[in-house]
Amino acid sequence: MTSPALESFIAQSSARSRLQSDPADCVLALAPLMLDLIDHAGTFLEPHHFRSSDSGYTRNLIYEAPDKSLSLYALVWLPGQWTPVHDHGSWGVVGVVEGALEERSYVRLSSDRGADEEIDLVRGGVVLLRRGSVTSFVPNPDHIHMTGVPAERSRAVSLHLYGRAMNDFNTYDIEARTRRRITVPHNES
Ligand SMILES: [Fe+2]
Repeated sequence: MTSPALESFIAQSSARSRLQSDPADCVLALAPLMLDLIDHAGTFLEPHHFRSSDSGYTRNLIYEAPDKSLSLYALVWLPGQWTPVHDHGSWGVVGVVEGALEERSYVRLSSDRGADEEIDLVRGGVVLLRRGSVTSFVPNPDHIHMTGVPAERSRAVSLHLYGRAMNDFNTYDIEARTRRRITVPHNES
């Protein structure tokens, strides 16, 4: 890590997230940091952070705290690449550095009793995020969504800060009304 902007972001994010026990307060404190970080993306994003794949969106690790309490990734979305419907089980703050990222939300109608079955979801709204935009989510309850770039748009690149090492998440099968935990791969920094 050689960029003063990135070093400052990590230091401030770590300090602020430790002070905020409520995830909603945490993203309130961290979203402005992400807004500023986007402006300095050129000082720390290197060619390997722009790695992409024809087989799906690509997660390139930028930073992971030694105690796993924070992780920061550059995600590269080629046209037509999408996540599954998922939640993170963590707070997160996302900033777009290139292109336009689309986020489609889902609303859970059934109460979450911790079971992985009999889950009723309906589609919610859509948000389009251009370069400079910041969004966030909290697990109060979990924000369920899918993110990606439609086939007719160009590549998007986004920064994702999470309150844990993001090596797995819950994915949802709307028809089957189920969810399951899957491992999500990434490229090391
Ligand atoms: Fe997500």
